[in-house]
Amino acid sequence: MIQLFKNIKELIQVREQQIDFVAGADMNVLPTIKNAYLVVKNGRITDFGNMDNCPNLPAAIEIDVTDKMILPTWCDSHTHIVYAGNREGEFVDRINGLSYEEIANNGGGILNSAKKLQQTSEEDLYNQSKLRLEEIIQLGTGAVEIKSGYGLTEEAELKMLRVIKRLKENYSIPIKATFLGAHALPNEFKKNKDGYLKLLLETILPKITEEKLADYIDVFCETGYFSVADTALILKAGLAHGLLPKIHVNQFTAIGGIQTGVKYNALSVDHLEEMRDKDIEALKNTKTMPVALPSCSYFLSIPYTPARKMIDEGLPLALATDFNPGSTPSGNMNFVVATACIKMKMTPEEAINAATINGAYAMGLEKEVGSITIGKKANFIITKPISSYAFIPYSFGMHQIEDVYINGEKI
Ligand code: NIG
Ligand code: FE
Repeated sequence: MIQLFKNIKELIQVREQQIDFVAGADMNVLPTIKNAYLVVKNGRITDFGNMDNCPNLPAAIEIDVTDKMILPTWCDSHTHIVYAGNREGEFVDRINGLSYEEIANNGGGILNSAKKLQQTSEEDLYNQSKLRLEEIIQLGTGAVEIKSGYGLTEEAELKMLRVIKRLKENYSIPIKATFLGAHALPNEFKKNKDGYLKLLLETILPKITEEKLADYIDVFCETGYFSVADTALILKAGLAHGLLPKIHVNQFTAIGGIQTGVKYNALSVDHLEEMRDKDIEALKNTKTMPVALPSCSYFLSIPYTPARKMIDEGLPLALATDFNPGSTPSGNMNFVVATACIKMKMTPEEAINAATINGAYAMGLEKEVGSITIGKKANFIITKPISSYAFIPYSFGMHQIEDVYINGEKI
């Protein structure tokens, strides 16, 4: 099947050459073609250009998009959308004065979600999770990473990862799976962290490899959770099983996790609300993508990742949602892009680069999605009629999506 999208007001994030990611000042450059056409053949992008050079394709299905723009779908490189139930009770507790930390220390937080998930059947978990996946696709996400980490037992971690595998099989967007067994210490191991690490690395990890259930390994490297030494141990074991690291780090405290991530070739280091100069320094000239999660900062009222300083110092940055029941019960990348502009002083160009090509890189998908490039998947958003692409973050809390196409198919 051939499709010809005609009269595109502006075709956004056009990359003639395949690139891996953009960093520093280049993040402020967003290549576009005004008054453009786009050709899709069998789900892939095969041609694009200015309407003056629009080819005559008698066999093509023509789609006129006058007044509307086309941009690649969002690449959400950090989510926890497989979870059971919700935690709006804790949300109300926070409104009434308890802190996220106090709630976690009282048995809420991650352990609360783990308890719920352990009591939920795989079928029910799948059904709850697929609704969230469908919702984020409607909101323009065309590639996503999903973590385990609300299981915290062998059975429940494998259950989560099998649900992610089923989502991969049943949905047409690229999905990457991350093993986050080291998300919190379960109560039964409170006095025996070594025992839990042994369970994760010697029992669960080999099973994950055997069933090919994960692409990446993650750790919540944080005071009161997993130390830098624990992180090093886990990342080393993950790498030995072929899993590249993507880690939670510097969310509440800066304890040296970024340096450890870089040392073990982490594909990404995520959160980064608390950044010291030496943390920024450690990321320079590496292949590790820093990932900011502004919806988490918004929801928990914690600092935003210092994007301006990081980009001005030459670093790349990706944006993701962190969709999860505790710190970010929202998977809306449109809100993430708007919040990055409003609260982190990123320009629309920087935010769109961060949420497309850089997000793709943070999932190892930069050759498949994240830009309008010949050969890539035809995963893109057709906007409503808008005056300029800056209108996308400007109209915060709303979205400007008219249609979402995945592999050239309208969703
Ligand atoms: O990325 N920080 C660690 N994990 C999640 C939140 C966990 C939860 O509260 O359920 C996050 O923010
Ligand atoms: Fe997270």
